[in-house]
Amino acid sequence: MKKLGVAVIGTGFWGRNQARVFKELKETELLAVCDINAERAKNVAKQFGVKPYTKMGTMLRRKDVEAVSICTWSTNLAKEALKALQAGKHVLVEKPMATNVKQARKLLDTAEKMGLHLTVGFLMRFIPGIQHIKKAIENKTIGELVCATAKRVSEWPERVGDVGVVKDTAIHDIDIIRYLFKEDPIAIYAKTGSMRHKKFEDYAQIMLIFEGKKSAFIESNWLTPYKTRILTVTGSKAIMKLDYITQELIIEDAKETVHPRYMWQEPLKLELQHFVNCVLKKEKPLITGIDGLKALQIAEAALKSSATGRVEKLK
Ligand SMILES: NC(=O)c1ccc[n+]([C@@H]2O[C@H](COP(=O)([O-])OP(=O)(O)OC[C@H]3O[C@@H](n4cnc5c(N)ncnc54)[C@H](O)[C@@H]3O)[C@@H](O)[C@H]2O)c1
Repeated sequence: MKKLGVAVIGTGFWGRNQARVFKELKETELLAVCDINAERAKNVAKQFGVKPYTKMGTMLRRKDVEAVSICTWSTNLAKEALKALQAGKHVLVEKPMATNVKQARKLLDTAEKMGLHLTVGFLMRFIPGIQHIKKAIENKTIGELVCATAKRVSEWPERVGDVGVVKDTAIHDIDIIRYLFKEDPIAIYAKTGSMRHKKFEDYAQIMLIFEGKKSAFIESNWLTPYKTRILTVTGSKAIMKLDYITQELIIEDAKETVHPRYMWQEPLKLELQHFVNCVLKKEKPLITGIDGLKALQIAEAALKSSATGRVEKLK
């Protein structure tokens, strides 16, 4: 079987993890890593027996590198993703994909023009329980969908210094809610603020209002001394609760509490495998550039709503 030649750009906490997974996958050959921090690039390259680069342009000239994953600081993602697309590489760009919607659109247009895959690192979609919840909503086994609430709180991961909690953290839940509801909110209302972070918001409460009666609520912060990542979906007949960390799913209705059992799986492995298989088989990925753009648009609307104190309507 032909292996896909891949490289990772940005070898910090997340890029190193991605390099490990690409090395483990039978579908990929990890060929190179790149980081503006030469020491870091060298260390990670040594760990995985590949070539280190500090200049992306040089690495992108390699024909055997067919796909790249961009794991740089959030504010550099779009710039590096654009270079990779222009060099003819398929791209997985980490969330939040870009600093703003305009940059995200440029990535979409470039990927389309070049006929390349562009996907975004919305890892949560690869937690097995999410697919169970999605089917239960679609088959209406939970009755009519009423609302979803998501809680994603922890201490501030200090390495994140260039975006706030909305674009870094709440964006995962924004994407999951769009995915599960199969539609976009029509309006957003949010309160955000900063208690410890000097430059950006470190807490956010976001309400997403959908057509009809449905709504969703996201609580996200970097102020809580323990890590919680929970999603609760309420239907007219049952409630489903997913713990993203343990991957435990609980379904409760008037008669019983059910714990569907799934073997724990590493979501990053499932995500990268899916991306690579889509490239090799020329199939559309589960997450497209438009998903990244829409999530970013909602995140921006939340920040604007908080700044103005008004409900932000989305077209
Ligand atoms: N999907 C997820 O669940 C998930 C989890 C963690 C991080 N992330 C995302 O991954 C990205 C990296 O996060 P991290 O925690 O690894 O950060 P980090 O600070 O640990 O690492 C970022 C690395 O990128 C390098 N870098 C910055 N700009 C660069 C450029 N232009 N070219 C090459 N290298 C560059 C830095 O030197 C650093 O080594 C962020 O965008 C973050 O949102 C996603």
